Amino acid sequence: MKRVAVFASGSGSNFETIVKAAQTEKIGYEVVFLFSDQEDAYALKRAQQLNVPSIAFSPKSFGDKAAYELELLNVLKRERIDFIVLAGYMRLIGPTLLNAYIGRIVNIHPSLLPSFPGKDAIQQALNKGVKVTGVTIHYVDAGMDTGPIIAQEAVKIEDTDTYLQLQKKIQAIEHELYPKTLAKLLREDEEIANETSIN
Ligand code: GRF
Repeated sequence: MKRVAVFASGSGSNFETIVKAAQTEKIGYEVVFLFSDQEDAYALKRAQQLNVPSIAFSPKSFGDKAAYELELLNVLKRERIDFIVLAGYMRLIGPTLLNAYIGRIVNIHPSLLPSFPGKDAIQQALNKGVKVTGVTIHYVDAGMDTGPIIAQEAVKIEDTDTYLQLQKKIQAIEHELYPKTLAKLLREDEEIANETSIN
């Protein structure tokens, strides 16, 4: 069973669905803890309700990003975390974490990347007037929403869609796609590890 840490800065609705999927189905991963860089994130309350341990500290308490990530890395190592899942974590991952977890950090983004990377992807899509947007799950690299794509699903934008209506449609897809994709990814990872140990 893969040991997963979820990073979230905000509401944590994706975090919740990832945890619930692991608690109710044989899904091949367990969420060991939630990390938040925002000490008042609603995601922390969800963690408490879900009985998932949480850790929160702000980069502002550290001299620089490397020191902040080094502290985070110590926690990840102490908890023997295999895989990092970003779910609304509003920071770029720096070299300290990237180098330690190459190919083992994933993110979810509310657009069909490479369209509309960065902040406010839903608003960017509405401003542009595109008729289709969606959800992307991708590996994390040093760029802003630039890593290799793992899964995507499209969402139609109706002329009458408000921001909130579109956000609701996108989140409904995220909540289904993220646990499903993680299960597949982590199961494949486990199978590869088993094959390597047999051969
Ligand atoms: C999601 O829309 C995700 O795609 C983006 O941030 C949002 C997080 O929502 N990266 P929540 O905190 O999981 O509710």
